[in-house]
Amino acid sequence: MEISNIQLLKRFKSFAFAVFIFNFTVFSNFALAQGEGLFKAKCATCHMPHKNSTGPKLFGVRAKWADGGAKDGSIYQWVNNWQTAAANDPYAAEVSKWSPTAMSAFPDLKKEDIDAILDWVDAQPDPAMATDTNGGGNTVGSISAADDQESNSWIWIIMGVIFVVVILAVGGVRRQLRLATEQDESEKMTYGEELRALAWKYRLQVGLVSLVVVISLFVGLFQTLYSINVMEGYQPSQPIAFPHSQHAGINGIDCKYCHNTVTKSKSASIPSVNVCMNCHKQIDGEGKPFANEIKKIYAAAGWDKAAMAYNGKTNPIVWNKVHNLPDHVYFNHSQHVVVGGIDCKQCHGDMTQMQETAMVQPVEELNKIEGNIKLTRKTLTMGWCIECHSKKDVAIGTGKNAYYDEIHRRLKKDPKLYAQYLNNDGKITVNELGGWECAKCHY
Ligand code: HEC
Ligand code: HEC
Ligand code: HEC
Ligand code: HEC
Ligand code: HEC
Ligand code: HEC
Repeated sequence: MEISNIQLLKRFKSFAFAVFIFNFTVFSNFALAQGEGLFKAKCATCHMPHKNSTGPKLFGVRAKWADGGAKDGSIYQWVNNWQTAAANDPYAAEVSKWSPTAMSAFPDLKKEDIDAILDWVDAQPDPAMATDTNGGGNTVGSISAADDQESNSWIWIIMGVIFVVVILAVGGVRRQLRLATEQDESEKMTYGEELRALAWKYRLQVGLVSLVVVISLFVGLFQTLYSINVMEGYQPSQPIAFPHSQHAGINGIDCKYCHNTVTKSKSASIPSVNVCMNCHKQIDGEGKPFANEIKKIYAAAGWDKAAMAYNGKTNPIVWNKVHNLPDHVYFNHSQHVVVGGIDCKQCHGDMTQMQETAMVQPVEELNKIEGNIKLTRKTLTMGWCIECHSKKDVAIGTGKNAYYDEIHRRLKKDPKLYAQYLNNDGKITVNELGGWECAKCHY
């Protein structure tokens, strides 16, 4: 009897261990997702995991520094500010000679952030080693989609193994229970009674394990939900290197000239090649470094520059969608831009400064822009929409907006509800008008 009790305890221990492993995988998966986001937002413009570009490839770089005799922690100092590192560590000074281009400084990145980035980099398979399963697909989108699939199936396999371990551990407990009662012939108890009696005897252990299980499940669920579809830093490659900084910035072209449905409909729309041709018939970029990009516009429009005429051979430009909500979400531009009076900058950042093609801006970048409502949740997640809806007040009863004036009129008839709406913050926010109702955002 005593021996089987000890074995029982051992089973509990292996069960608790399984729960610990489950937590660990969930957390490390979360850290990888975070590393990927940071890498894409801050490093991807100059670095790739497996190929040198503006900066050297970053795969296995921590090991490289350690092997090369760099000082401890020097690599983190490098990312924070390469000049400090080069001044303190001869190895870093050597690295800084790699190219005449200087790396940017990232003083805000903590050691954990840098480790998360480099962990993610080290987890990337070398595309040159793998056989091409994408059928030669060369868009950034298709490659990263395949990556996601891979890391997902990996996590499922591990979770499956853990599940089996847990089942075995529980099965072991059951076997011990039966053993215990078989030896004790005098008391004939039903299975339920046995279980209850044992659970009571080991109530401290059972209580602790249940607590750990419940907390782990909750933490796991939330971490997984938060890392789903995190779009921040997403910047797909585009067929033409279109710079917003030149057009909306230097040339001062209004956003609505190109995104001409943004105030009228749900979608903002991407301009057709005809819109480009309004100007680029004349601006051919001849002799400039970007002449090739303009040739692509001509190829798409079927414009024969020599003859100054269209030849009818059109070939539409296929832009890759950058901001992309799942199909089950309804988002309406005119509602936000016109009715809500929200500037494009709030959600897309300052496009007049954007020298490369569009990117989903991380919320930290959006928060740096003057006049933006400061949010904490990741851009384009449900939490992001909801948080703004609970912070942003709507200017009701100003006589400028018939829809709100009608709401105002009705609210005044119900002073109690009106007072309740105003109670905590003295303003009427979007959520109080229904901005938190599932059906408003979900089909
Ligand atoms: C503006 C371009 C640029 C950006 C952005 C950039 N780097 Fe670099 N990085 C470089 C260059 C260039 C070098 C090579 C050193 C040199 O020539 O100064 C380098 C070198 C490095 C090295 C040493 C590589 C080696 O082989 O020893 C590490 C580590 C590194 N970068 C990490 C990062 C991380 C992490 C980020 C993002 C947080 C980042 N870099 C963002 C340009 C950049
Ligand atoms: C001369 C035409 C033009 C003007 C002016 C212009 N855009 Fe664009 N915009 C484009 C094109 C072409 C794309 C597709 C290429 C890309 O994604 O960078 C685009 C893409 C975008 C995207 C990403 C779309 C997606 O797929 O998610 C956003 C956001 C955007 N523009 C916002 C703005 C804002 C804000 C302004 C005004 C400050 C502006 N644009 C002015 C032509 C224009
Ligand atoms: C209202 C006029 C106008 C429209 C519309 C316009 N552009 Fe331009 N674009 C310009 C001007 C001006 C320049 C700068 C030319 C220069 O620097 O010589 C330019 C430059 C460019 C460049 C080179 C920028 C660089 O510095 O690398 C590209 C690429 C380009 N445009 C693509 C497009 C595309 C694609 C469209 C349609 C979506 C478009 N443009 C619509 C006026 C326009
Ligand atoms: C409240 C946040 C918000 C504001 C303000 C906003 N957008 Fe968007 N924008 C989004 C979201 C979310 C998407 C993705 C929509 C989807 O996938 O259905 C998007 C997508 C886009 C696209 C891609 C095409 C499309 O319609 O899906 C363009 C272009 C764009 N926005 C331009 C603009 C311009 C220009 C303005 C300012 C006049 C603006 N946006 C203001 C949130 C915003
Ligand atoms: C920066 C703040 C902000 C963000 C971010 C934002 N919204 Fe809104 N939203 C508003 C404001 C302000 C209104 C009120 C305008 C109105 O009443 O039509 C509104 C209204 C709405 C409405 C209509 C609510 C009603 O009562 O009729 C829907 C639906 C909606 N938003 C969906 C979304 C979705 C989906 C997202 C995320 C992808 C989002 N919003 C992100 C500010 C925001
Ligand atoms: C203000 C708009 C808004 C409201 C209100 C809203 N959602 Fe969402 N919801 C979204 C957006 C945007 C996404 C997509 C997030 C993403 O792709 O990460 C989403 C995603 C989801 C998902 C999929 C999980 C995921 O992370 O992709 C579920 C489930 C969901 N919502 C349920 C609800 C329920 C239940 C309610 C009501 C209590 C609700 N939503 C209210 C905007 C909203």
